[in-house]
Amino acid sequence: MKVTVSLIKADIGSVVGHVVVADEIKAIAEERLKRAVVDEKIIDFRVFNAGDDLELLMTHRRGVNSEEVHELAWETFNECAERAKELKLYGAGQDLLKDSFSGNIRGLGPGIAEMEFTERKSEPLIAFMMDKTEPGAFNLPFFRIFADPFNTAGLVIDPSMHSGFIFEIWDILEHRRVKMSSPEEIYSILALIGGKSRFVIKRVYPKPGKLPGDEPVAVVSTEKLYQVAGEYVGKDDPVALVRAQSGLPAVGEILEAFSFPHLVSGWMRGSHNGPLMPVSFRYAKCTRFDGPPRCIAAGFQVCNGKLIGPIDLFDDPAFDYTRQKAMEIVEYMRKHGPFEPHRLSAEEMEYTTLPKVLKNLKERFEKI
Ligand code: F6R
Ligand code: MG
Ligand code: MG
Repeated sequence: MKVTVSLIKADIGSVVGHVVVADEIKAIAEERLKRAVVDEKIIDFRVFNAGDDLELLMTHRRGVNSEEVHELAWETFNECAERAKELKLYGAGQDLLKDSFSGNIRGLGPGIAEMEFTERKSEPLIAFMMDKTEPGAFNLPFFRIFADPFNTAGLVIDPSMHSGFIFEIWDILEHRRVKMSSPEEIYSILALIGGKSRFVIKRVYPKPGKLPGDEPVAVVSTEKLYQVAGEYVGKDDPVALVRAQSGLPAVGEILEAFSFPHLVSGWMRGSHNGPLMPVSFRYAKCTRFDGPPRCIAAGFQVCNGKLIGPIDLFDDPAFDYTRQKAMEIVEYMRKHGPFEPHRLSAEEMEYTTLPKVLKNLKERFEKI
């Protein structure tokens, strides 16, 4: 039987600046989703926060882009935002960029990662949730997971993974997409996704074999807030879902890809490059220079649409070295202050508040 997993998120206000979602706000979301389970709109849910982002993980049988489920998320965010406004929480209602719901939550501000698939005999699933970075932050680890034999032993050893995977890559500037096959086209895939502010991995599909080829095994949220709002309203802190095991990368192969704290854009004012630090749920709060960018991983077994978990997967000393390395990189990058490449490239700064500052200087220039 098919199940749909929808992970929908929004920054609707946080406590002490952009640090964390208030417990009271999470409780409102939980109440709302509990009612939706009773009303049989959804089968199960979990509410998380990745820093200042409120994350709604829901399972149901309504397929992707379900109006009921999107409306439920939209109403939940709005109810939470109302309370956040009463409490004068910081940035209350920040990501809810449109006034009304019109059938789909896409294009209204929140980020969405959802996929429908046939539930296997046993269905391990990981939800990744990041704060203070953008969707392209998933490019490097997702390439490693599904295409790099030095990360994923199964690509070499497991006959059912040996043929590789299909990547669906989105050009989020030109609004077009392309499907590419790994390993045949890995150099071309990298030619695109190395430019992570523009080309992002949206979905990964299996090659013909044990699993239905039209059902994704991984999906990333790719919404760009800037494109909805037309001005800087914060980074598009992304989320992703990945299925694991039995012919797919093992949980440990998926997590291994996060053991390298690669540089991502975001951090302070969405304007800086910094290392992505994998952390436990309790450290999903960005403090130093509003960062560094973070990622949490919640592991589940899906059982007839019910969620067994979460397991806090980065809550493991095995990731201490990665975190230590990330902090060494933080020290190094911070020493650059306002200089590139700590500050984003001029091209990427277009989508921040810097152009407003530069505009004021325009009159002062004379020809040379
Ligand atoms: C980054 C982020 C924060 C804010 C910064 C300034 O995604 O949310 O780093 O950009 O704290 O926030 P404002 O302009 O709201 O004072
Ligand atoms: Mg915020
Ligand atoms: Mg955030």
